Amino acid sequence: MSVAIGLGLMEFPFAGAADYWRWVDLCEAGGVDSLWQTDRLVSRQPILECMAAMAALAGRTRRLRFGMNVVSLALRDPVLLAKQCATIDVLSQGRLLPGFGIGSPRGPEWTAMHLDPKTRDLISVITKVHARTERGLRQYLLRAMRDGCTAHEVLDALLMAFPALGLSRITWAIDVILEMDLPEFRPEALGVPGSWHDLAAEDSIAPGAVERIECDGRAAFVHRGASGFMVYDSRCPHEVTNIPHLALNGTTLTCPKHEWVFDLTTGACIDKGDRPLNQRRSKIERGRLLAFW
Ligand code: FES
Repeated sequence: MSVAIGLGLMEFPFAGAADYWRWVDLCEAGGVDSLWQTDRLVSRQPILECMAAMAALAGRTRRLRFGMNVVSLALRDPVLLAKQCATIDVLSQGRLLPGFGIGSPRGPEWTAMHLDPKTRDLISVITKVHARTERGLRQYLLRAMRDGCTAHEVLDALLMAFPALGLSRITWAIDVILEMDLPEFRPEALGVPGSWHDLAAEDSIAPGAVERIECDGRAAFVHRGASGFMVYDSRCPHEVTNIPHLALNGTTLTCPKHEWVFDLTTGACIDKGDRPLNQRRSKIERGRLLAFW
């Protein structure tokens, strides 16, 4: 096993370029393995632009390796960045140590560069699809939707990433997303017309009762109140857990995953969480209760 020393710079703590190069020369002569430059495009303190710094280090040094710590991919054109990396790597004879990130969500660069911060969310989703981490995809997809990404934007991003992801990863991701059954990804929300589904005979649900009904691959909680039927998607609005019948206690429903509690007479979340159950349109037709999705 060997141990190497790498030194990182974020701010530029030198009086000028001469001091910087003196420090670089000392590192080169003194056996330091690598230098690392943080990437900030907007900052109160002076900070070198990291790709320009990489190119300058490639020309100044002969032995030292150097890397970005890490370069914000979402703030740059990826094709141009790849070409810059390849150029610096060739000219430095393989001494570039590239590191890529997405960019801080709170960084001022998004505004300064007129970029939509949702880009970061979409790239996060794509990286999880690329790594095929189902848990990560679920987590980052929900975060993207919370941050305002639309279903169409997510689907567009996946298709745009086709050259990197390939068909099998995209179909895997679509399967995971469909399984999550997010309202935004339902056919009707995507402009595909939905249809009415026959849940039960009207008389089979007693006044005041709640039933969990499975129908055409979906499940719903149905409450028959004084003013009619309320039909709710069985998937929790938090992280789309399919809430089982066992979670029912009278007209109160407690999601087993993080214990959000819902009142089935109104659909409201009454404890722990902050979002109501997703209600489905319903109607009675010839004595049958129908729901729309
Ligand atoms: S998934 Fe239901 S409370 Fe978190």
